[in-house]
Amino acid sequence: MPGTFDRTRGKALTREVSPRYAEAVSSFFNTRMPDYEAARGAQQAYFAALRAHGSEVITLPPLEDFPDCSFTEDTAVILEDKAVIPNLGHPSRDGEKESIADFLADDFEITRMPAGATLDGGDVVFYDDRFLVGLSTRTNREGADFLTEHAKEVGMEVQLFSVPASTLHLTTVCSSPRPGTVVAAEGHLTEADLSFAEEVIWIPEEEGYAANTIAYGDRLIMAEGYQRTRKLMLDAGFSISTVEMSEFREVDASLTCLSVFIG
Ligand code: GLY
Repeated sequence: MPGTFDRTRGKALTREVSPRYAEAVSSFFNTRMPDYEAARGAQQAYFAALRAHGSEVITLPPLEDFPDCSFTEDTAVILEDKAVIPNLGHPSRDGEKESIADFLADDFEITRMPAGATLDGGDVVFYDDRFLVGLSTRTNREGADFLTEHAKEVGMEVQLFSVPASTLHLTTVCSSPRPGTVVAAEGHLTEADLSFAEEVIWIPEEEGYAANTIAYGDRLIMAEGYQRTRKLMLDAGFSISTVEMSEFREVDASLTCLSVFIG
């Protein structure tokens, strides 16, 4: 059904970049001041890529007080007709959830986390019969347990991971572009972590950012500029489109961060 959290990518819920983008949280990649205008341009290219693959892109206006507001992936996890609205794990971001919940309330049953539980949607990766959920600086055990309880109601298991201190979210170093397949960054996840997967495409550590992908069947969107990863993906049978992501990488954000698929 529409709204199932799976690899259906009919509708992408996105949000324009905040005018305060320069203040976005940045703990890993930052090399310079984030650039609002450049991020707006890059976001348009991202929207175009989603549309070219068949997604309807719904774009909410920016939240002026929330520099990270364009990273909508973190603000909701869709479980069939339910939207789990997490308490976001960084205090500067938690207020983003209200307007997402308001928007989703027309089509989904809104389920909120209890105080003290935190989770970012960026720590949740859909893989066939289960969600891979990262315990991280943003997602705590209570948050993961809350999601587990609701995932079980729709027949999904949850497998927990410890997100290494070397990265922000589980999605930063891992994605599942098609049934049976996980793309993972070397140096962040191990073979033992991913032993359930039929196929693991390991991305060299220096290109680990490119492990975050968005796929439509065998058509894959990945970040531009990662040639070894591009070759690995072509060899794995994907056709490739790329999006220039360097402006978002500056603030630790990847392709999937910029949307939550709601149908
Ligand atoms: N800048 C993205 C995040 O920290 O959540």
